[in-house]
Amino acid sequence: MRVLVTGGAGYIGSTAVEIMRHQGFEISVLDDCSTGHADSVPSGVRFIQGSLLNEKEIAEALMGVDAVIHFAGKSLVGESVEKPDLYQRVNVGGTRNLLDGMHTAGVKKIVFSSSAATYGEPAVIPIKENAQTSPTNPYGATKLEIDHMIHAESEIRNIAAVSLRYFNVAGALNCDRGWLSERHNPETHLIPNVLRSSGETPVRIFGGDWPTPDGTCIRDYVHVIDLIDAHIKALNSLELGVHEIYNLGSGDGYSVRQVIAAAARAKGQEIPTIDSPRRTGDPAVLIADISKAKSILGWSPSRGIDEMVSDTLASFN
Ligand SMILES: NC(=O)c1ccc[n+]([C@@H]2O[C@H](COP(=O)([O-])OP(=O)(O)OC[C@H]3O[C@@H](n4cnc5c(N)ncnc54)[C@H](O)[C@@H]3O)[C@@H](O)[C@H]2O)c1
Repeated sequence: MRVLVTGGAGYIGSTAVEIMRHQGFEISVLDDCSTGHADSVPSGVRFIQGSLLNEKEIAEALMGVDAVIHFAGKSLVGESVEKPDLYQRVNVGGTRNLLDGMHTAGVKKIVFSSSAATYGEPAVIPIKENAQTSPTNPYGATKLEIDHMIHAESEIRNIAAVSLRYFNVAGALNCDRGWLSERHNPETHLIPNVLRSSGETPVRIFGGDWPTPDGTCIRDYVHVIDLIDAHIKALNSLELGVHEIYNLGSGDGYSVRQVIAAAARAKGQEIPTIDSPRRTGDPAVLIADISKAKSILGWSPSRGIDEMVSDTLASFN
Protein backbone atom coordinates (compact mmCIF):
# COMPACT_ATOMS: atom_id res chain seq x y z
CA MET A 1 0.00 0.00 0.00
CA ARG A 2 1.28 3.51 -0.85
CA VAL A 3 0.80 5.77 2.16
CA LEU A 4 1.29 9.51 2.59
CA VAL A 5 2.47 10.28 6.13
CA THR A 6 1.86 13.94 6.94
CA GLY A 7 4.08 15.07 9.80
CA GLY A 8 6.50 12.26 8.96
CA ALA A 9 9.48 14.33 10.15
CA GLY A 10 8.02 14.65 13.66
CA TYR A 11 8.32 12.40 16.69
CA ILE A 12 5.42 10.00 16.09
CA GLY A 13 5.34 10.39 12.29
CA SER A 14 9.02 9.51 11.80
CA THR A 15 8.56 6.42 13.97
CA ALA A 16 5.60 5.41 11.78
CA VAL A 17 7.66 5.92 8.61
CA GLU A 18 10.47 3.76 9.95
CA ILE A 19 8.24 0.89 11.10
CA MET A 20 5.97 0.95 8.05
CA ARG A 21 8.71 1.04 5.41
CA HIS A 22 10.18 -2.09 6.96
CA GLN A 23 6.76 -3.74 6.70
CA GLY A 24 6.63 -3.13 2.93
CA PHE A 25 4.52 0.05 2.79
CA GLU A 26 5.61 2.55 0.14
CA ILE A 27 5.86 5.83 2.06
CA SER A 28 5.74 9.49 1.06
CA VAL A 29 6.16 12.26 3.64
CA LEU A 30 4.68 15.77 3.69
CA ASP A 31 6.15 17.94 6.43
CA ASP A 32 7.08 21.62 6.66
CA CYS A 33 9.64 20.87 9.41
CA SER A 34 8.18 23.62 11.61
CA THR A 35 8.55 21.31 14.64
CA GLY A 36 9.92 18.24 12.86
CA HIS A 37 13.39 17.50 11.52
CA ALA A 38 14.28 16.75 7.90
CA ASP A 39 17.03 14.38 9.06
CA SER A 40 14.37 12.18 10.70
CA VAL A 41 13.11 11.21 7.24
CA PRO A 42 15.17 8.33 5.86
CA SER A 43 16.79 8.61 2.46
CA GLY A 44 14.86 6.59 -0.10
CA VAL A 45 11.52 7.87 1.20
CA ARG A 46 9.76 10.40 -1.04
CA PHE A 47 9.87 13.63 0.98
CA ILE A 48 7.87 16.73 0.06
CA GLN A 49 9.07 19.47 2.38
CA GLY A 50 5.88 21.46 2.20
CA SER A 51 2.85 22.62 4.12
CA LEU A 52 -0.75 21.67 4.72
CA LEU A 53 -1.39 25.33 3.98
CA ASN A 54 -0.18 24.96 0.38
CA GLU A 55 -2.63 23.20 -1.94
CA LYS A 56 -0.02 22.55 -4.66
CA GLU A 57 2.34 20.86 -2.22
CA ILE A 58 -0.54 18.73 -0.92
CA ALA A 59 -1.47 17.72 -4.48
CA GLU A 60 2.15 16.78 -5.20
CA ALA A 61 2.37 14.74 -2.00
CA LEU A 62 -0.87 12.87 -2.79
CA MET A 63 0.27 11.72 -6.24
CA GLY A 64 0.12 7.92 -6.50
CA VAL A 65 -1.09 7.46 -2.93
CA ASP A 66 -3.71 4.96 -1.66
CA ALA A 67 -4.11 6.24 1.92
CA VAL A 68 -3.06 9.02 4.29
CA ILE A 69 -1.90 8.90 7.89
CA HIS A 70 -2.31 12.46 9.12
CA PHE A 71 0.03 13.35 12.01
CA ALA A 72 0.93 16.89 10.92
CA GLY A 73 -0.19 19.76 13.08
CA LYS A 74 0.45 22.00 16.03
CA SER A 75 0.23 20.23 19.37
CA LEU A 76 1.31 22.45 22.27
CA VAL A 77 -1.56 23.19 24.65
CA GLY A 78 0.05 26.35 26.10
CA GLU A 79 0.88 27.73 22.65
CA SER A 80 -2.70 27.07 21.54
CA VAL A 81 -3.99 29.27 24.36
CA GLU A 82 -1.65 32.09 23.27
CA LYS A 83 -2.20 31.61 19.52
CA PRO A 84 -5.64 30.06 18.93
CA ASP A 85 -5.74 31.47 15.38
CA LEU A 86 -2.57 29.60 14.45
CA TYR A 87 -4.09 26.33 15.70
CA GLN A 88 -7.30 26.99 13.83
CA ARG A 89 -5.42 27.82 10.62
CA VAL A 90 -2.91 24.96 10.66
CA ASN A 91 -4.86 22.15 12.31
CA VAL A 92 -8.39 22.81 11.05
CA GLY A 93 -7.60 24.78 7.86
CA GLY A 94 -4.68 22.48 6.99
CA THR A 95 -6.84 19.38 7.39
CA ARG A 96 -9.58 20.95 5.26
CA ASN A 97 -6.98 21.47 2.52
CA LEU A 98 -5.78 17.89 2.90
CA LEU A 99 -9.32 16.45 2.67
CA ASP A 100 -10.05 18.57 -0.42
CA GLY A 101 -6.76 17.47 -1.97
CA MET A 102 -7.66 13.84 -1.25
CA HIS A 103 -11.04 14.34 -2.93
CA THR A 104 -9.41 15.80 -6.03
CA ALA A 105 -6.81 13.02 -6.13
CA GLY A 106 -9.39 10.27 -5.50
CA VAL A 107 -7.72 9.17 -2.24
CA LYS A 108 -10.42 7.79 0.06
CA LYS A 109 -8.61 6.50 3.16
CA ILE A 110 -7.38 8.47 6.15
CA VAL A 111 -6.16 7.71 9.67
CA PHE A 112 -6.01 10.85 11.81
CA SER A 113 -4.07 11.68 14.99
CA SER A 114 -6.75 12.94 17.34
CA SER A 115 -6.24 13.41 21.04
CA ALA A 116 -7.58 12.73 24.53
CA ALA A 117 -7.70 16.54 24.75
CA THR A 118 -11.03 16.32 22.88
CA TYR A 119 -12.69 15.01 26.07
CA GLY A 120 -11.66 17.76 28.50
CA GLU A 121 -12.57 17.08 32.16
CA PRO A 122 -13.96 13.54 32.18
CA ALA A 123 -17.05 12.73 34.23
CA VAL A 124 -16.25 9.01 34.20
CA ILE A 125 -12.90 7.16 34.34
CA PRO A 126 -11.80 5.25 32.28
CA ILE A 127 -12.84 7.37 29.31
CA LYS A 128 -14.79 5.69 26.52
CA GLU A 129 -15.05 7.00 22.96
CA ASN A 130 -18.70 7.92 23.53
CA ALA A 131 -17.87 10.11 26.54
CA GLN A 132 -18.88 13.74 26.43
CA THR A 133 -16.41 15.91 24.47
CA SER A 134 -15.73 19.26 26.06
CA PRO A 135 -12.17 20.39 25.34
CA THR A 136 -10.62 22.80 27.84
CA ASN A 137 -8.11 24.41 25.45
CA PRO A 138 -7.94 25.52 21.77
CA TYR A 139 -5.63 22.59 20.85
CA GLY A 140 -8.26 20.04 21.99
CA ALA A 141 -11.00 22.08 20.33
CA THR A 142 -9.20 21.92 16.96
CA LYS A 143 -8.79 18.14 17.27
CA LEU A 144 -12.51 17.78 18.00
CA GLU A 145 -13.41 20.05 15.09
CA ILE A 146 -11.27 17.90 12.78
CA ASP A 147 -12.91 14.70 14.06
CA HIS A 148 -16.30 16.24 13.18
CA MET A 149 -15.01 17.41 9.78
CA ILE A 150 -13.69 13.94 8.95
CA HIS A 151 -16.98 12.40 10.09
CA ALA A 152 -18.91 14.67 7.71
CA GLU A 153 -16.44 13.81 4.94
CA SER A 154 -17.11 10.10 5.44
CA GLU A 155 -20.85 10.73 5.03
CA ILE A 156 -20.74 13.28 2.22
CA ARG A 157 -17.77 12.06 0.17
CA ASN A 158 -17.88 8.40 1.24
CA ILE A 159 -14.31 8.32 2.56
CA ALA A 160 -13.01 5.63 4.92
CA ALA A 161 -11.70 7.20 8.11
CA VAL A 162 -10.41 6.49 11.58
CA SER A 163 -9.60 9.03 14.30
CA LEU A 164 -7.19 7.71 16.91
CA ARG A 165 -7.42 9.59 20.19
CA TYR A 166 -4.01 9.25 21.79
CA PHE A 167 -3.46 9.74 25.48
CA ASN A 168 0.24 10.39 26.33
CA VAL A 169 2.69 8.99 23.80
CA ALA A 170 6.16 8.11 25.08
CA GLY A 171 9.20 5.94 24.40
CA ALA A 172 11.47 5.73 21.39
CA LEU A 173 12.42 3.40 18.52
CA ASN A 174 15.91 2.00 18.03
CA CYS A 175 16.51 1.47 14.31
CA ASP A 176 19.48 1.08 11.98
CA ARG A 177 19.83 4.89 11.86
CA GLY A 178 20.01 5.12 15.66
CA TRP A 179 17.23 6.18 18.04
CA LEU A 180 14.14 8.02 16.83
CA SER A 181 12.82 9.95 19.79
CA GLU A 182 11.11 13.12 20.98
CA ARG A 183 12.98 16.19 19.74
CA HIS A 184 10.45 18.84 20.74
CA ASN A 185 11.54 22.38 21.57
CA PRO A 186 10.16 23.33 24.00
CA GLU A 187 9.63 19.83 25.42
CA THR A 188 6.37 19.77 27.38
CA HIS A 189 6.10 16.01 27.91
CA LEU A 190 6.70 14.60 31.36
CA ILE A 191 8.97 11.61 30.68
CA PRO A 192 11.76 13.40 28.75
CA ASN A 193 11.59 16.32 31.18
CA VAL A 194 11.85 14.04 34.22
CA LEU A 195 14.83 12.26 32.66
CA ARG A 196 16.56 15.58 31.90
CA SER A 197 15.95 17.11 35.32
CA SER A 198 19.01 18.17 37.28
CA GLY A 199 19.82 20.10 40.43
CA GLU A 200 19.70 23.36 38.42
CA THR A 201 16.53 22.38 36.51
CA PRO A 202 14.45 20.14 38.79
CA VAL A 203 11.23 18.74 37.36
CA ARG A 204 8.17 20.67 38.51
CA ILE A 205 5.32 18.75 40.11
CA PHE A 206 2.13 20.74 39.51
CA GLY A 207 0.04 20.08 42.60
CA GLY A 208 0.55 17.51 45.33
CA ASP A 209 -2.98 17.70 46.70
CA TRP A 210 -5.03 16.08 43.93
CA PRO A 211 -7.60 13.45 44.97
CA THR A 212 -5.28 10.59 43.95
CA PRO A 213 -3.41 8.05 46.14
CA ASP A 214 -0.12 10.04 46.19
CA GLY A 215 -1.66 13.47 45.55
CA THR A 216 -0.20 13.91 42.04
CA CYS A 217 -2.04 13.78 38.70
CA ILE A 218 -2.53 10.42 36.99
CA ARG A 219 -2.12 10.01 33.23
CA ASP A 220 -2.22 7.14 30.74
CA TYR A 221 0.96 6.52 28.69
CA VAL A 222 1.34 4.46 25.52
CA HIS A 223 4.62 3.42 23.89
CA VAL A 224 5.11 4.94 20.44
CA ILE A 225 5.83 1.49 18.91
CA ASP A 226 2.51 0.13 20.25
CA LEU A 227 0.82 3.28 18.95
CA ILE A 228 2.13 2.75 15.40
CA ASP A 229 0.99 -0.87 15.52
CA ALA A 230 -2.53 0.48 16.15
CA HIS A 231 -2.23 2.79 13.11
CA ILE A 232 -1.39 -0.14 10.85
CA LYS A 233 -4.33 -2.10 12.24
CA ALA A 234 -6.54 0.97 11.76
CA LEU A 235 -5.40 1.31 8.12
CA ASN A 236 -6.38 -2.30 7.50
CA SER A 237 -9.77 -1.79 9.15
CA LEU A 238 -10.92 1.15 6.99
CA GLU A 239 -14.37 0.92 5.37
CA LEU A 240 -15.76 3.34 2.81
CA GLY A 241 -18.40 5.67 4.22
CA VAL A 242 -17.47 4.84 7.82
CA HIS A 243 -15.65 7.00 10.39
CA GLU A 244 -14.59 5.23 13.58
CA ILE A 245 -12.97 6.70 16.70
CA TYR A 246 -10.63 4.68 18.95
CA ASN A 247 -8.85 5.63 22.15
CA LEU A 248 -5.19 4.65 22.32
CA GLY A 249 -3.55 4.41 25.70
CA SER A 250 -2.45 1.57 27.91
CA GLY A 251 -5.68 1.52 29.90
CA ASP A 252 -3.54 2.04 33.02
CA GLY A 253 -2.73 5.23 34.85
CA TYR A 254 0.56 6.38 36.38
CA SER A 255 0.88 9.28 38.75
CA VAL A 256 3.57 11.93 38.28
CA ARG A 257 5.39 10.46 41.29
CA GLN A 258 5.20 6.94 39.80
CA VAL A 259 6.73 8.22 36.55
CA ILE A 260 9.47 9.93 38.56
CA ALA A 261 10.10 6.68 40.44
CA ALA A 262 10.37 4.78 37.11
CA ALA A 263 12.87 7.38 35.89
CA ALA A 264 14.89 7.04 39.10
CA ARG A 265 15.00 3.25 38.60
CA ALA A 266 16.14 3.67 34.97
CA LYS A 267 18.84 6.23 35.83
CA GLY A 268 19.86 4.60 39.08
CA GLN A 269 19.71 7.96 40.84
CA GLU A 270 17.22 10.27 42.54
CA ILE A 271 15.32 12.71 40.31
CA PRO A 272 15.42 16.33 41.54
CA THR A 273 11.87 17.73 41.84
CA ILE A 274 10.25 20.96 42.94
CA ASP A 275 6.67 21.39 44.13
CA SER A 276 4.58 23.92 42.20
CA PRO A 277 0.93 24.97 42.43
CA ARG A 278 -1.73 23.16 40.39
CA ARG A 279 -2.15 24.34 36.80
CA THR A 280 -5.66 25.43 35.88
CA GLY A 281 -7.38 23.10 33.44
CA ASP A 282 -5.42 19.99 34.54
CA PRO A 283 -7.84 17.13 35.31
CA ALA A 284 -6.76 14.93 38.27
CA VAL A 285 -7.01 11.62 36.39
CA LEU A 286 -7.06 10.75 32.68
CA ILE A 287 -7.18 7.06 31.81
CA ALA A 288 -8.35 5.59 28.51
CA ASP A 289 -10.83 2.80 28.10
CA ILE A 290 -9.13 0.92 25.24
CA SER A 291 -11.59 -1.96 25.00
CA LYS A 292 -12.92 -0.78 21.61
CA ALA A 293 -9.44 -0.81 19.99
CA LYS A 294 -8.79 -4.19 21.59
CA SER A 295 -11.97 -5.83 20.41
CA ILE A 296 -12.42 -4.26 16.96
CA LEU A 297 -8.83 -3.63 15.83
CA GLY A 298 -7.40 -6.62 17.70
CA TRP A 299 -4.80 -4.23 19.18
CA SER A 300 -3.18 -4.56 22.55
CA PRO A 301 -0.26 -2.51 23.87
CA SER A 302 2.58 -4.63 25.21
CA ARG A 303 5.11 -2.11 26.55
CA GLY A 304 4.80 -0.64 30.05
CA ILE A 305 6.03 2.51 31.76
CA ASP A 306 9.50 1.09 32.56
CA GLU A 307 10.13 0.36 28.88
CA MET A 308 8.86 3.81 27.83
CA VAL A 309 11.20 5.46 30.34
CA SER A 310 14.25 3.27 29.64
CA ASP A 311 13.89 3.62 25.83
CA THR A 312 13.61 7.40 26.16
CA LEU A 313 16.70 7.44 28.38
CA ALA A 314 18.63 5.22 25.95
CA SER A 315 17.70 7.55 23.10
CA PHE A 316 19.40 10.47 24.89
CA ASN A 317 22.78 8.73 24.95
N1 LIG B 1 2.88 13.28 21.44
C1 LIG B 1 1.72 13.02 22.07
O1 LIG B 1 1.70 12.58 23.23
C2 LIG B 1 0.39 13.24 21.35
C3 LIG B 1 -0.80 13.02 22.04
C4 LIG B 1 -2.02 13.20 21.37
C5 LIG B 1 -2.02 13.56 20.03
N2 LIG B 1 -0.85 13.80 19.39
C6 LIG B 1 -0.89 14.22 17.97
O2 LIG B 1 0.00 13.41 17.20
C7 LIG B 1 0.53 14.16 16.12
C8 LIG B 1 2.04 14.03 16.12
O3 LIG B 1 2.55 14.52 17.35
P1 LIG B 1 4.13 14.60 17.65
O4 LIG B 1 4.29 14.50 19.11
O5 LIG B 1 4.85 13.67 16.74
O6 LIG B 1 4.42 16.11 17.23
P2 LIG B 1 5.58 16.72 16.32
O7 LIG B 1 5.52 18.20 16.51
O8 LIG B 1 6.87 16.03 16.59
O9 LIG B 1 5.09 16.32 14.86
C9 LIG B 1 4.19 17.12 14.12
C10 LIG B 1 4.77 17.29 12.71
O10 LIG B 1 3.87 18.07 11.92
C11 LIG B 1 4.64 18.98 11.14
N3 LIG B 1 3.79 20.12 10.77
C12 LIG B 1 3.29 21.07 11.59
N4 LIG B 1 2.59 21.97 10.86
C13 LIG B 1 2.64 21.55 9.57
C14 LIG B 1 2.12 22.05 8.35
N5 LIG B 1 1.41 23.19 8.30
N6 LIG B 1 2.37 21.37 7.21
C15 LIG B 1 3.12 20.24 7.21
N7 LIG B 1 3.65 19.72 8.35
C16 LIG B 1 3.41 20.38 9.49
C17 LIG B 1 5.81 19.36 12.04
O11 LIG B 1 6.92 19.91 11.36
C18 LIG B 1 6.12 18.04 12.73
O12 LIG B 1 7.09 17.29 12.02
C19 LIG B 1 0.03 15.59 16.30
O13 LIG B 1 -1.08 15.78 15.45
C20 LIG B 1 -0.40 15.63 17.76
O14 LIG B 1 -1.42 16.57 17.99
C21 LIG B 1 0.35 13.65 20.01
